[in-house]
Amino acid sequence: MPTIGAPRSALDLQVLDHPLALHKLTCLRDRDTPVALFRSTVRELGRLLACAATADLPLSSRAIETPLAPMQAPWVDESRVMVVPVLRAGLPLAEAFCELMPSAAVGHVGVYRDAQARPVEYLVKLPAPVPSAPTRVFIVDPMLATGNSAAHAIDVLVAHGFPIVDIRMVSILCAPEGLDLLGQRFPGLRVHVAAIDERLDANAYIVPGLGDAGDRMFGTQH
Ligand code: URA
Repeated sequence: MPTIGAPRSALDLQVLDHPLALHKLTCLRDRDTPVALFRSTVRELGRLLACAATADLPLSSRAIETPLAPMQAPWVDESRVMVVPVLRAGLPLAEAFCELMPSAAVGHVGVYRDAQARPVEYLVKLPAPVPSAPTRVFIVDPMLATGNSAAHAIDVLVAHGFPIVDIRMVSILCAPEGLDLLGQRFPGLRVHVAAIDERLDANAYIVPGLGDAGDRMFGTQH
């Protein structure tokens, strides 16, 4: 049961409530799913998350001609969208977003977890924000566990001039602990997830979870 008044309630939390998302999540949770299928399923689930997370993108319009008539047609300015995978596990999710928005900018934040599950930054490469042109930023990381890496990535984006109101956090799975941290640090933040799991274990892994997402995507062992 979620605790009333827990910091996570300060978030604008959107849980993807879709049979296909839950079906694909089961495939990811299954320890016997092979690497290639795991990675392609992350991309498929990423597309569903991308549809949900982009539902409020601003629409402008463009004059076009169909084979039958001229019309003003709806248009998303993809140059005002940036996708930021938290390396390395965020990469297949970012691919899913870029399949839907091929002209979106892509930034990278590289963070690994040290033995105490604290984030250690090793790379930040971001396009500069365009003054007077708000950019919607999607930070993608499949596992929102302690929330430390996500909070670090958000801090990096804000420090680079991207306002917090334009930032969205997108994850496949999250733990209540991670949501609480984000709720405390960034009240009002929009967070999109496919499911909320029970808890973290002593090693800060999500339970029941799906294991180490990066290792399962890339066939490595820590
Ligand atoms: N990162 C992962 O890959 N898995 C977890 O369960 C938690 C963090």
